[in-house]
Amino acid sequence: MNDSMTPDAVSNEYVYQLDRQNVFHSWSSQGNLSPLVIAGGRGCKMWDYSGKEYLDFSSQLVNTNIGHQHPKVIAAIQAQAGELATVAPAHANLARGEAAKRILAHAPQGFEKVFFTNAGADANENAIRMARAYTGRDKILSAYRSYHGNTGAAIVATGDPRRVPNEFARGHAHFFNPYLYRSDFWASNEEEECERALMHLKRVIECEGPKSIAAILLESIPGTAGMLIPPKGYLEGVRRLADQHGILLILDEVMAGFGRTGRWFAFEHFNVKPDLIVFAKGVNSGYVPAGGVVVSEPICRHFDDHMFFGGLTYSGHPLAMAAIVATLDTMEAEGIVDNADRVGNGVLADGLKQIAEKHAIVGETRGVGVFHALELVSDRDSRAPLPAPAMAKIKGALIEKGLLPFVVENRIHVVPPCIVSEAEVEQGLSILDDVLSTAG
Ligand SMILES: Cc1ncc(COP(=O)(O)O)c(C=O)c1O
Repeated sequence: MNDSMTPDAVSNEYVYQLDRQNVFHSWSSQGNLSPLVIAGGRGCKMWDYSGKEYLDFSSQLVNTNIGHQHPKVIAAIQAQAGELATVAPAHANLARGEAAKRILAHAPQGFEKVFFTNAGADANENAIRMARAYTGRDKILSAYRSYHGNTGAAIVATGDPRRVPNEFARGHAHFFNPYLYRSDFWASNEEEECERALMHLKRVIECEGPKSIAAILLESIPGTAGMLIPPKGYLEGVRRLADQHGILLILDEVMAGFGRTGRWFAFEHFNVKPDLIVFAKGVNSGYVPAGGVVVSEPICRHFDDHMFFGGLTYSGHPLAMAAIVATLDTMEAEGIVDNADRVGNGVLADGLKQIAEKHAIVGETRGVGVFHALELVSDRDSRAPLPAPAMAKIKGALIEKGLLPFVVENRIHVVPPCIVSEAEVEQGLSILDDVLSTAG
């Protein structure tokens, strides 16, 4: 860092240079990065040091469900810091117990306990470990179109291409999950896609050896892969296949859970109950890192007299737990899940439909709640994905006009905080409409 750069002169340029000279970034080759400088935020807005404002339609990494700097959550973290800033996981702690109780209150009947982790990846890691210990089996089946996190087993459970350079853990196999717009099964409607995807999974289970499979791990609605809402009957069919072979079902709710789809858990849209629920992100909007596994009764009983070989120094960290308690209480009190349902399935879904009809560059829009994706194509008939340079240009134009998007491959994921207002949705959609008009 240049010696003349002092914190007295905080500016976009100072923070940018500080970052570029000292910070090693995720999922990137480091040479050619240009991180956007963010100074602060409130609600759905963020701003930089020059005062330029952005409407956050990314919820950062799809985690700030309650919006930025909610005063009740900030106050709860501050109060907990004043009382007890850290405590070992083996001790009983008020904030941890209250957080677990609140999470269980939103889980279906039959869930008994919560194991806390630092984030989503290690939550999947521990769910996988529980499933292996419980069943005495080793293999985990998961979908190619998925992301489960960046630790040893979680990245190998991930289906997307970030898995390939990280495949060091054994005991994983993958299958194709339903995605009608780009069907791997030559399906032309939801029923065909569902039936064929289940037949394919049945064959994968048979070929991998049903007695060697501990669990099927699935995002209830795959998020990073582009809001791939499973067709009616799919998750129920997966549950049936799992039950036939004594295989556990782990549903990863890290991105889709805690209000994002207009329900507390995304699997509530379907008639399915998992054995383990994995959560993180929205549980406390990421104000303090936290994740975990909600454990069903039979698995709890197993571990009553079997050792669980797993743990983390910060499991149930009190600052994260206080943030969970305040987040969930505030979401209840302020009707935030209902807001995600009403605004997301109302003005947001309708507006995106209109944008899709208007711009030939949009191949499909899909989603539920505040969990939508616009799939951009260079040709509507062939459905050829819009190439990366064109996507980068669109992303740049959206940011320039004050909208923070979440861009993945050829898609714009439209994922504002669950508190988003109708007026903010109108504002964001108008920027999207503008930018797509010049891109098309
Ligand atoms: C569905 C899902 N599972 C797990 C993870 C990993 O969570 P984390 O980055 O908190 O470890 C993510 C992150 O995006 C996710 O979307």
